[in-house]
Amino acid sequence: FEFTAANLEWARAQMTKYPEGRQQSAIIPVLWRAQEQEGWLSRPAIEYCAELLGMPYIRALEVATFYFMFQLQPVGSVANIQICGTTSCMICGAEDLIAVCKRKIAPTPHTVSADGKFSWEEVECLGACANAPMAQIGKDYYEDLTPEKLEELIDAFSDGQVPVPGSQTGRFASEPASGLT
Ligand code: FES
Repeated sequence: FEFTAANLEWARAQMTKYPEGRQQSAIIPVLWRAQEQEGWLSRPAIEYCAELLGMPYIRALEVATFYFMFQLQPVGSVANIQICGTTSCMICGAEDLIAVCKRKIAPTPHTVSADGKFSWEEVECLGACANAPMAQIGKDYYEDLTPEKLEELIDAFSDGQVPVPGSQTGRFASEPASGLT
């Protein structure tokens, strides 16, 4: 692994934001950029980032393993689906959403589907509890989900569409701010 020229330039710019000798403070954005470039964080990618910042590999790995936003295994080319499994979502049906993922994507989390398009995992609260159950698909939140709706969303993404995020039932809690006026 190595950064593209543009990403390397970007990473070096991040490093200059910190006092001399404190460049490893840039580890989170540098790891994030590596993940954006590769889709996930391979061991070579983490080693590369650590070396770039002059820090031990184990320290970079500690950061990468602490946050579930960092993917340490390959993810689907279209989307990694993160199902919230914390209290509100669990009570409102997260298990049924996970069952859909197991059936349509792969029986186990962090496993890429046979067509290479999707992977899934269960994550902790994503802060959209009022519209439980919900999932993050790619970078967007899809809320007030049902198993049927999640299946529709996966099929739509698979066909190259980008479904409208937010509440899938149009509930007020996730209407855009303009809906309040
Ligand atoms: Fe699922 Fe908070 S419990 S978003």
